[in-house]
Amino acid sequence: MDLLIQGVDIFDPVADRLLKKQDIKILDGIIREVGEDLQEEGLPTCQAPGSYVFPGLVDVHVHFRDPGQTHKEDLMSGSQAALAGGFSQVICMANTAPAIDSPQRVEAFYKKAQASPIDLHTVAGLTKNLKGQELTDLEGLAQAGAVGFSDDGFPLADPSLLYEAMVRARALDLPISLHEEDPAFIGKPGVNAGPVAQDLNHPGASSLAEEVLIARDGAMALDTGCKLDIQHLSTRLGAQLVKFYRDQGAQIVAEVTPHHFSLTEESLLEWGSLAKVNPPIRREEDRQALVQGLKDGSLSLIASDHAPHTLDEKAYPLTHAPSGMVGLETALALGHTLLVLGGHLSMMDLVKKMSLNPARFYKLDLPSLEPGQRANLCLFDPKKTWTIGPETFKGKSQNSPFMGYKVTGQVQGVFTKNHWHEINL
Ligand code: DOR
Repeated sequence: MDLLIQGVDIFDPVADRLLKKQDIKILDGIIREVGEDLQEEGLPTCQAPGSYVFPGLVDVHVHFRDPGQTHKEDLMSGSQAALAGGFSQVICMANTAPAIDSPQRVEAFYKKAQASPIDLHTVAGLTKNLKGQELTDLEGLAQAGAVGFSDDGFPLADPSLLYEAMVRARALDLPISLHEEDPAFIGKPGVNAGPVAQDLNHPGASSLAEEVLIARDGAMALDTGCKLDIQHLSTRLGAQLVKFYRDQGAQIVAEVTPHHFSLTEESLLEWGSLAKVNPPIRREEDRQALVQGLKDGSLSLIASDHAPHTLDEKAYPLTHAPSGMVGLETALALGHTLLVLGGHLSMMDLVKKMSLNPARFYKLDLPSLEPGQRANLCLFDPKKTWTIGPETFKGKSQNSPFMGYKVTGQVQGVFTKNHWHEINL
């Protein structure tokens, strides 16, 4: 596929450079030329003066529910949600039904994923059936293409099992990603233990649930040298612990989700179960600590934790409704609006946290935006103000507490796998 994109600012975190007012010529899926006033007769042309181009984004934490709950999402609908949000690579979680916990299931995933318009990757379960009892065949799973290991959705209670997993994952040079919520400190999940939970008469999930596990597992990551990804970080002390272990030399990163950097527990009062998520959205001081960590660089990944559920299930009473919210379609616009326009991050920093840093940590290929490279890019209008609504969601589910939220910055297209997907052009 050929394409000429004209008049854009190029944010290239791989080459670490920003080029203003450039044209990009793509021939047969390869960037051939970058420069000013490029012309070529007969090329499909996209004039986008003032727009930004950066690498197709990378989300290390999505739930595509395939197999098992494909009425909520499947690999193809999830890929459409990803494209709508500017992503060209995602890592799927293993909490499917059945769980992705054997080399055969990893192989089946990649076979199906070939038909996707984007690059789909998967982690594999760390323990069999994500039950926390017995480790999976980490070596066989790596061989089959798993890019890491996770029981996401469930914490790993047994430290000796996790220690053994870390030693083996270290030998494979693959990350372990952990859902850090100790059930000992959870009355009922999805709502922060505090005044809002009390108002709602919901025995909530305490910050301690996260903090104690990060403290424990960071120490083991330091000892083993294993790459550790703390999933969907939600607490101030958790953020400080991640920074502490990084400063000690541990290979530890943490994901910050758009809902955790933009909302507080009060959103439960407005949105009810649409704002119910594990770990829960917490206090303003926690939110600010996450923003601060993104700003000082100690928190280096933004991930959506795209978790589709039906609106029927979300309409159950708060204690029974499932936890989670969709996020792929809105993550970039929320990051741009709240973090970049909010004065906390530069655009280059946001792009790094949504492409280069996650790709590096999980060893995914992320080409630069230079001539000779495979074209893998997102076109983004930084000035467009729009309102998140039901039509925003291109996956199968719409469970979002951001409905009606006004944001600035919109994806216009994604070029990946030798194909140009026009999105809001
Ligand atoms: O709220 C959540 N929902 N947190 C998770 O970790 C899992 C996810 C899901 O699968 O729905």
